[in-house]
Parts: sequence; C-alpha cells; structure tokens
Amino acid sequence: MATILALETSCDETAAAVVRDRVVLSTVVASQIDIHQPYGGIVPEVASRHHVITLGESISVALAQAGVGWDAIDGVAATCAPGLVGALLVGLTAGKTLAMVHQKPFLGIHHLEGHIYANYLASADLQPPYLCLLVSGGHTSLIEVKGCGQYQTLGQTRDDAAGEAFDKVARLLGLGYPGGPIIDRLAQQGNPQTFPLPEGNISLAEGGFHPYDSSFSGLKTAVLRLVEKLRSEGVDPLPVADLAASFQATVARSLTRRVVACARDYGLTTVAVGGGVAANSGLRLHLQRAAAEHGLRVIFPPLSLCTDNAAMIGCAAADHFNQGDRSGLGLGAQSRLDLARVMDLYAPIPVT
Ligand code: KG4
Ligand code: ZN
Repeated sequence: MATILALETSCDETAAAVVRDRVVLSTVVASQIDIHQPYGGIVPEVASRHHVITLGESISVALAQAGVGWDAIDGVAATCAPGLVGALLVGLTAGKTLAMVHQKPFLGIHHLEGHIYANYLASADLQPPYLCLLVSGGHTSLIEVKGCGQYQTLGQTRDDAAGEAFDKVARLLGLGYPGGPIIDRLAQQGNPQTFPLPEGNISLAEGGFHPYDSSFSGLKTAVLRLVEKLRSEGVDPLPVADLAASFQATVARSLTRRVVACARDYGLTTVAVGGGVAANSGLRLHLQRAAAEHGLRVIFPPLSLCTDNAAMIGCAAADHFNQGDRSGLGLGAQSRLDLARVMDLYAPIPVT
C-alpha cells in the first residue's frame, strides 16, 4: 500500500492530491480557465506564473483535506512529461524539493499514463490487457495497456488532436475557450444529422484506409467552409447548436469506429477512455452503444477525473511505487515523451 502526494502542472490546471493506491484521499484542482479565456487559448508564460502562485496553497489544502501528515506519505510524485515545459517545471521542482526535504522517494509521472490511470479510480477491478482511447487537448491515441509502464500505441491522429479540434471549431464559431465543454452543451440542443461532415480517413499507399489512425484537420476545415457558405447565403444567426451537434457526432463516430476495429483486431474486450474529451457526452453515447453491440466492456473515468487532475497522477505513481520504481532527483521536464518510454523516467539519473 502506497500513500502518494501527487502534483500536476503540465498545462492550465494547478493540481495536488493525496492518493492511497486506488483511493483518492483528497484532490484539489485550481483551474486557470478564467485567466486564459480573454486570450482564446493558453498562454504558456502566464500558465507557469499562475502555477507558482497557486501550487503551495493547493498542496497545503490537499494534505489537510486528506488528514495526513508527512509521516503518512510514502512518496512524492509530479508530472514531468509531456506538456508545457515552463508549467511542468513548477510542479516537478516543487515535487523534487518536497521529496528531498522530507526524505521521501520521488517519482516523475508521464501525463498520459495519468489519464490512463484515471480509469482505475472509477473501476478498481480494471486489469490489463485492455485498449485505452486517449483523447485530450494534445493527444488522440489508441493504446494497448499491457501493465504498469507498458504501453503500445496502435493508432493516433495524423494532425490535430480531438480536443484541439473541439477548441478550434468552437473558436471559429465564436463560442469561446475551452471549446469542448461549450460544444458539448450546445450539441445537446441541436440535431446531429443536420450537416453531413467528413470523418477524416487516412489513405494507405496500397489502397484503402488506415483502420486506427485519425485526422481532424479536414473536419475542422469542412466546418469552416460550411460556416462561410451559410454566412454568404445570409444565414443569421448561425445554427450553432446544429453545427455543434453535427461536428460532435462526426468526431464521436470516427473515434468509435477506430476503437471497435482496434479492439476486435487485437482481441481486447475492455476499452477504457482517458483525457479531457472522455468527458464528451456524444463520445460516451456512441462508445456505449457500440460496446453493447460488439460485446465490449467500456469504462469512463468520472467527469471530474477526465480533465487534468493530480489524483490520476497519484494513482499511476502508487502503482510504480509498489513495483519499486523511483526517479532520480536529476529528472528534467520534457515537452514530448513517447508513452512507450515511460520506464526511462525510472532509470538512474545522477543529481547534477
Ligand atoms: O486532458 P485535458 O484536460 O488536457 C490535456 O492534457 O490536453 O484535455 C483538455 C481538452 C480541451 O481540448 C477541451 O476542450 C477538451 O479536453 N474537453 C472536452 C470536453 N471537456 C474538455 N471536449 C469535448 N467535450 C467535453 N465535454
Ligand atoms: Zn491532460
């Protein structure tokens, strides 16, 4: 059993949590959405500065709400890759410093492994192997989870990530930031069949389409052209609810098709979903229907654990801790790191 203090500052949420294996003792998320909203997207320098301001208080609150002192903490974990380097450095430096001061082991955690682990907080009985659809602001991947730290990417987007597509379409519809939750809300009042949109298939040199890879930039451009056409025809106001519903259903259909093909081809009967777009109601509906039709078990984290949080980082860290993984205090932040290289985070690194 491992009790972990976990920190997450890879993007625009400052988060701290205390997790005991797969039980969340406390979780604190200080969102920066209001701060970045006027810019229409995340400003990395502003994100880093706000993590510095908010992290100390978030850690104190997480420890107090968990009702544990330092004597009960077995290890300290922080997200170290991938993400905005300046933002990552805040949590990583705080985590390493606390580990050193309190003489606890330190573990750097891969952000996407955290999103995968959010599923264990919903379903403690989840066991590898299973397929994970990771859909966030920066990633869209189909991953075979073979065990703690053991991942094989089977499919991915060739251009925009799913969350990025939601954010860009929301921006072109003038809906604000972040686009995913806004489109999701609007889509519930619209008709998804109003506008047929292209799913975005990746052609193969030998003919046919890649069964698992996706593309969302063509879909985004199709929405842009459609909006330009409606405007040129004098349609005012734009039917934003129908546009949002049609776009969301196209993304959900495209992802679901790939999940089903991949699960079938690799003989995986359980599908877990992670990342901010896992909160999307259209995706949940399409995947649940397909799961019932194809005899798959599909698992979603609770909504609060789909977007960035430290509980998922703590959950991943507890598993690594229990299998003996430790990071060196020389571990740095990395803007990119393939999920297949997670175990590199636990290779011995000399303190420089
Ligand atoms: O996982 P996350 O919090 O941060 C990253 O690691 O990227 O994901 C953020 C992304 C944003 O693009 C946001 O628009 C999207 O997740 N998102 C959603 C929903 N909630 C958040 N997309 C679709 N529907 C939602 N309900
Ligand atoms: Zn994330």
